[in-house]
Amino acid sequence: MIIQPRTRGFICITTHPEGTAKNVHNQIEYIKSKNISTEGPKKVLIIGASTGFGLSSRITAAFGYNAATIGVFFEKPAAQKKPGTAGWYNTAAFEKEAHAAGLYAKSINGDAFSDEIKQQTIDLIKKDLGQVDLVVYSLASPRRTHPKTGVVHSSVLKPIGEPFTNKTVDFHTANVTDITINPIDSQEDIDNTIAVMGGEDWKFWMEDLKAAGVLAEGVKTVAYSYIGPELTHRIYKDGTIGMAKNDLEKTVPVLNELLADLNGVSYVSVNKALVTQSSSAIPVVPLYVSLLYKVMKDKGIHEGTIEQMQRLFEERLYTTNGQIPLDENGRIRIDDLEMREDVQKEVDDLWKIVTSENINEISDIKGYRDEFFQLFGFNYDEIDYDVETDELVTVPSIS
Ligand code: NAD
Ligand code: NA
Repeated sequence: MIIQPRTRGFICITTHPEGTAKNVHNQIEYIKSKNISTEGPKKVLIIGASTGFGLSSRITAAFGYNAATIGVFFEKPAAQKKPGTAGWYNTAAFEKEAHAAGLYAKSINGDAFSDEIKQQTIDLIKKDLGQVDLVVYSLASPRRTHPKTGVVHSSVLKPIGEPFTNKTVDFHTANVTDITINPIDSQEDIDNTIAVMGGEDWKFWMEDLKAAGVLAEGVKTVAYSYIGPELTHRIYKDGTIGMAKNDLEKTVPVLNELLADLNGVSYVSVNKALVTQSSSAIPVVPLYVSLLYKVMKDKGIHEGTIEQMQRLFEERLYTTNGQIPLDENGRIRIDDLEMREDVQKEVDDLWKIVTSENINEISDIKGYRDEFFQLFGFNYDEIDYDVETDELVTVPSIS
């Protein structure tokens, strides 16, 4: 079928299989070009492996370290006349390239929050790999069905306390307006967000994996967080999502104790603000990201998910001397370039003056939009979007 971008609200509801394959291929080429020489992971489980940081983690492990990877995600397969989701096509492309390179790669499509998918993953590890030495936890989801209670928790993106007013942009139209986001109604909003994006499910995963004996001696596990600058704190760090991230951080010592007899260790890595399907849904953040991209590109220090994950693996998790640089709170920081004083100062100055009139000159809103559509396989010069493409792409390991 002929597949072109179609949007509903801020979201893109179509996906181009060749374009998403291009996106995956570019990331693979980037990692190969880095010629990583440090000792790294060998058998890796990635939970949330199909898009964003999880996909880039998988590509880094596989093509940077020749690791065997099992990826877990929740995506829609392609059907006749109905394109699959980006994560589906990403995985199809990833597996194809991994297999061609002689790398083990299998995937599981289903609800990672459920006991069933955890068991299915354990069975696959036992059958094919025996044990894993790295577990990457990179889920981003609006809801979670709790496996023990059956309760469906929905996360909210709200400030706590007073209403929050700031600038925001509709990145499709580049229209800058003020937005007021009402605060939470009750503690329940916080609790539900923690239930979805906090650390409990990460803990459940590690407990189950350990009990099944599929974690290797010296296993590492990492989950991702975000902090960001003052101007987004009310909606992010000090809002409901920030409370969930605090809960994720509190899970680190719990997991360290769980993994102690395996000499295992767990980390939260604070990553940079990036264009992903999840972050485009947060008000205020896309405008901040457009300005940040402009400043960081001008300084030659721009990074996407793959650049971030390459640094996470080579300069943090698997360094030559085995030392992992951490901040005063025991966290890995790869948001160091984003948070640099000169970068934040310039973003701040631009933030004060940005309007619908000047946004195209002073921000990288175009780069934001391009990258957003590239997540869905669009906006690649090399691809002709007016010709037929086969929408029925399968993930090799999933029948
Ligand atoms: P993303 O939306 O690109 O990826 C989410 C992944 O989770 C996908 O693979 C998806 O299939 C999977 N998933 C969602 N629900 C699932 C379910 N029920 N079962 C199985 N898989 C499921 O998100 P992302 O932006 O890469 O975020 C990953 C992590 O990184 C999150 O913890 C996020 O908070 C964090 N982070 C994001 C940013 C950013 O700017 N995007 C910055 C710092 C940290
Ligand atoms: Na991810």
